[in-house]
Amino acid sequence: MIKIDKLSVKFQNQVIIDDLSFTFEQGIFYGLTGASGIGKTTLLGAIAGLVPTSHGAISSDFQKLGYIFQDARLFPWMTALENVECVCHDIKKAEYYLNKLLPNAANKFPHELSGGMKQRVSIARALSYDAPLLLLDEPFKGLDEETKQFTVDAVMEFIKGRTAILVSHDYGELALCDKILKMERSPVSSLTEVKSGSTSFE
Ligand SMILES: Nc1ncnc2c1ncn2[C@@H]1O[C@H](COP(=O)(O)OP(=O)(O)OP(=O)(O)O)[C@@H](O)[C@H]1O
Ligand SMILES: [Mg+2]
Repeated sequence: MIKIDKLSVKFQNQVIIDDLSFTFEQGIFYGLTGASGIGKTTLLGAIAGLVPTSHGAISSDFQKLGYIFQDARLFPWMTALENVECVCHDIKKAEYYLNKLLPNAANKFPHELSGGMKQRVSIARALSYDAPLLLLDEPFKGLDEETKQFTVDAVMEFIKGRTAILVSHDYGELALCDKILKMERSPVSSLTEVKSGSTSFE
């Protein structure tokens, strides 16, 4: 469970999240959507402890979390395999997930990979960490349909029985989630549950 209690986040004088309370339950796969710039990445960052909060509290039952960032954030001086292994510290696991997401690229450096390939290395990195909570910030953006299908399959298999929050603007991706939450107004003071099958996510 992640309990968000009267959370506020602001950058300089701009209030992004204002007095937000919400509880994410264990074992549920959440989708999170809302207009560009409204605060989705900010909320994930706050949950991960990467974004400072101005008021309120976030308490979590999870000892560790995996995070697929909106940008790949790979170390440029490390190969794809080293980028995965430096997080999970388990070469077998690193090889397993990298092979699954991006075969034949273990020894390539980030500058030798396309944007979608780098993104898949970052997905392999997060999965290899084997955490009970996974935060996914638009992880499938920019992948062609075939690549997206096996990437989604790998992520869905991993998520089974875990808690996850997927940020997405994509109707098909959100339909995979158990619950879909929407940020409707800025500053964000609530998360509204929208029905799967709704055509008005945005
Ligand atoms: N480090 C920062 N410093 C100042 N302002 C920031 C910072 N990070 C985010 N913001 C601002 O906070 C707001 C929310 O940004 P955020 O990245 O959370 O949006 P988002 O919902 O994830 O958008 P998108 O769908 O485009 O990724 C934006 O107005 C952005 O300019
Ligand atoms: Mg974002």
